[in-house]
Amino acid sequence: MKKIKPYNSTESKRSQIESMFDDISKRYDNLNQILTFGLHKKWRQRAIDLIDNNPEKILDIATGTADFAIAAKKLNPKSIIGIDISEKMIEIGNKKLKRKNLNNFIRLKIADSQNLPFEDNYFDAITIGFGVRNFEEIEKSISEAYRVLKKDGILLIMEPSTKNNKFLSFLSKFYFEVIVTNIGYLFSKNSSAYNYLSESVKAFIDGETFLKILDEAKFKNCKHLKFSFGIIDLYWAKK
Ligand SMILES: C[S@@+](CC[C@H](N)C(=O)[O-])C[C@H]1O[C@@H](n2cnc3c(N)ncnc32)[C@H](O)[C@@H]1O
Repeated sequence: MKKIKPYNSTESKRSQIESMFDDISKRYDNLNQILTFGLHKKWRQRAIDLIDNNPEKILDIATGTADFAIAAKKLNPKSIIGIDISEKMIEIGNKKLKRKNLNNFIRLKIADSQNLPFEDNYFDAITIGFGVRNFEEIEKSISEAYRVLKKDGILLIMEPSTKNNKFLSFLSKFYFEVIVTNIGYLFSKNSSAYNYLSESVKAFIDGETFLKILDEAKFKNCKHLKFSFGIIDLYWAKK
């Protein structure tokens, strides 16, 4: 897979991603709402409904401003932890949790998907929303998710896609190249960030290749599902 980085080809992808999300953190939620026409909330709810093992402990990797972690509350777990490498995204997430009075129930932590600070076989379910294509090392992150999941624990991954539907693929390329980059720039004044968003979605691997990565990490019953005519990829896998 071609490695797309936000700013330059020399620095590590990880540090560029961290500073990019730090930079756009204050506008991230509003832009998410505008650029998905509010649909991201529905996608998260539908995705969470696929977690059918009554999880007690949930981990949300690349939690950002904690929207997926908040959506997971619906499953009535005992605890939810969100991790992210961007301090500023976590800061916004923590403010949101406080406003919603969820700060004692959902805990956010700075940590890297490639090196999770948790013991083996700890979580019952893991979610990763719009995070995977930003990882420097996808395989390492997936095997870390496997390590910290309990046996029969569920991994759920959501990513935007331009590859599932030929007709929509033309429209979504237009959407990402023209709409996302321009609206993103207008609101965030960070043209690299929203160019990166567009380029990284287009360059991301297709469903079959991603299923192979899950398979190689020893996940079982791996499934590729699609929402909204294939503009959203959902991956479901069991340890
Ligand atoms: C597009 S945001 C998604 C945020 C949130 N999950 C959501 O659904 O809105 C991607 C997030 O991934 C985080 N991220 C990127 N690489 C990471 C890594 N290696 N470990 C943890 N978080 C990472 C970024 O800092 C950013 O907050």
